Amino acid sequence: MKDIYILGIESSCDETSCAIVKNGKEDIATVIASQIDIHKNFGGVVPEIASRHHIKNITIVIEECLEKANMNMDNIDAIAITYGPGLIGSLLVGLEAAKTLAYIYNKPLIPVHHIAGHIYANSLEKEMEFPLLALVVSGGHTELVIMEDHYKFKKIGGTLDDAIGECYDKVARVIGLEYPGGPKIDKLAQQGKPTYSLPIPLQDDSYNFSFSGLKSAVINLNHKLNQRKEEVNKADLATSFQKVAIDSLIIKTKRALIQNNIKNLIVAGGVAASQGLREAIAKLQEELNLNITIPSMKYCTDNATMIAAAGYYAYKLGRRADLSLNSKSSDKLQ
Ligand code: KG4
Ligand code: ZN
Repeated sequence: MKDIYILGIESSCDETSCAIVKNGKEDIATVIASQIDIHKNFGGVVPEIASRHHIKNITIVIEECLEKANMNMDNIDAIAITYGPGLIGSLLVGLEAAKTLAYIYNKPLIPVHHIAGHIYANSLEKEMEFPLLALVVSGGHTELVIMEDHYKFKKIGGTLDDAIGECYDKVARVIGLEYPGGPKIDKLAQQGKPTYSLPIPLQDDSYNFSFSGLKSAVINLNHKLNQRKEEVNKADLATSFQKVAIDSLIIKTKRALIQNNIKNLIVAGGVAASQGLREAIAKLQEELNLNITIPSMKYCTDNATMIAAAGYYAYKLGRRADLSLNSKSSDKLQ
């Protein structure tokens, strides 16, 4: 069978990335230009600044990727692009680049939903086995999704308010840690004890989550301690927060696996990089005898490798977009 090479482009938030993936599983070349150092001065991503940096970086990143792979556009079978969800100005930069390449080199254009990209980051680790449950934990999403086959997404639950990554970042900001705070909270949490009492949110029968109450509880607790001039033990607060946030994810994930009789679990999105979550998932694997996949650390946060991998399976299913494809700031997972 002929090998298929997909060139993926991702620019939905603050990473400009291009990658070439062979047959949906082999990373031939990945280039990521991160804007973290720019946005951390503002405590979060500033959309207008992000778009401008994508414009500056996009052609450099594409050229570097082809060079790294020692390939040219003649070797590429199709172009996969994140069309949404994300920051509209940022998305448009990648989309216009992808459309231009598709037009000039006469290549198929494959539209990829950003969360499908995070899910398919797992196919870079090993072949997906169905039915599976995907626990999606990113800066903008927290969802439980059942997949009976490739691109058959059935969302069974999601956050009613904040996404888990958003909550990590906010808590980090409150205790004075730099953006993005998720990794810093995760690191601090390894050093503390869960001494602060915080409630596990939304302990109901649904597969939904809620993190805004937990976020407010941490803000209020921090405020109260500051007012009383009591020192906040940052490591203990990080540990207490992370424990409750992860317990909440695990309780619902466990119930979804048991009630739907699913043994294959994958984790997707930036928060999949959390050591605390990885340990909790490993425990769950042992308890329920699961087949688990978690992306390598480098594929957890935003990258074009996952978009090219997702693009491969979309390509095989005959999914194509024409040059009228537009960016979407929000869209149903499809
Ligand atoms: O998937 P992602 O790169 O972007 C979105 O699609 O939203 O996720 C970014 C989120 C941020 O909120 C970041 O703080 C969080 O993932 N994150 C982590 C870790 N690494 C990144 N959260 C907890 N522990 C980590 N190690
Ligand atoms: Zn993402």
